[in-house]
Amino acid sequence: MAARIPIIAGNWKMNLSPDQARELSAGLAREHTRPGTVEVFIFPPAPYLSIVAESTRASAIRFGAQNIYPEPKGAFTGETSLSMVSGLGGQLALVGHSERRHQFGETDSQAARKVAATVQAELTAVLCVGETLEQREAGQTESIVTDQIESGLREIGAHHLDQVVLAYEPVWAIGTGKTATPDQAQAVHHLSRALLRKQYGEAAASSMRILYGGSVTPDTISGLLARPDIDGALVGGASLTLDSFASIIQNSGFHS
Ligand code: 13P
Repeated sequence: MAARIPIIAGNWKMNLSPDQARELSAGLAREHTRPGTVEVFIFPPAPYLSIVAESTRASAIRFGAQNIYPEPKGAFTGETSLSMVSGLGGQLALVGHSERRHQFGETDSQAARKVAATVQAELTAVLCVGETLEQREAGQTESIVTDQIESGLREIGAHHLDQVVLAYEPVWAIGTGKTATPDQAQAVHHLSRALLRKQYGEAAASSMRILYGGSVTPDTISGLLARPDIDGALVGGASLTLDSFASIIQNSGFHS
């Protein structure tokens, strides 16, 4: 099986002041100067992209937008284009986060367009999928996650899959303090990889990084990463302080 370098990604959501963003990203950059055994991604709010670009310039940290609009430019008030992100040195776009889907009505087909635009712009898309508590209790986890992955990847060819990272984020685990158990997460990661294998073959399936997200902490990261199909974490709350995010990176086996 291809070796997959784990990714620890911080999604700051709509948090932090400009000074806090500068301090946190500079602190992370000091700790993560060279590529090591873990890749570190950060997703600041769009107005802070240039702050993060500047503070992380001399580091191995990659950053990107929490959301993008798939058109190159135009009359789209409030939106952020991929070239704005890449023009500042950003290499990533988060797509289809559950808060986008559930609070802003983003659909699977919009997520598919965003994934396609991201890979065409030569950035990496981190496509988020995950079921609600209601869907889990109704036994629909597998079908929801399968649908979201299939439709999210529908507009790209197999040759672009190396520009995609998947993130399984069960909605019931986000911001609730209820991390999925390593068994629960592994089960969904395993079926996601099986789906990729069926659709795209072994090589694509075994090289795809699949992150887990939902109340990850420095205490839960190593149990999650010990599972064979969990290749990292997408961290919200615990990515907002240097102490906790650096501990998650450390506990995931980072050595520079
Ligand atoms: P929390 O880590 O705060 O649960 O958030 C997870 C998340 O939504 C990351 O994208």
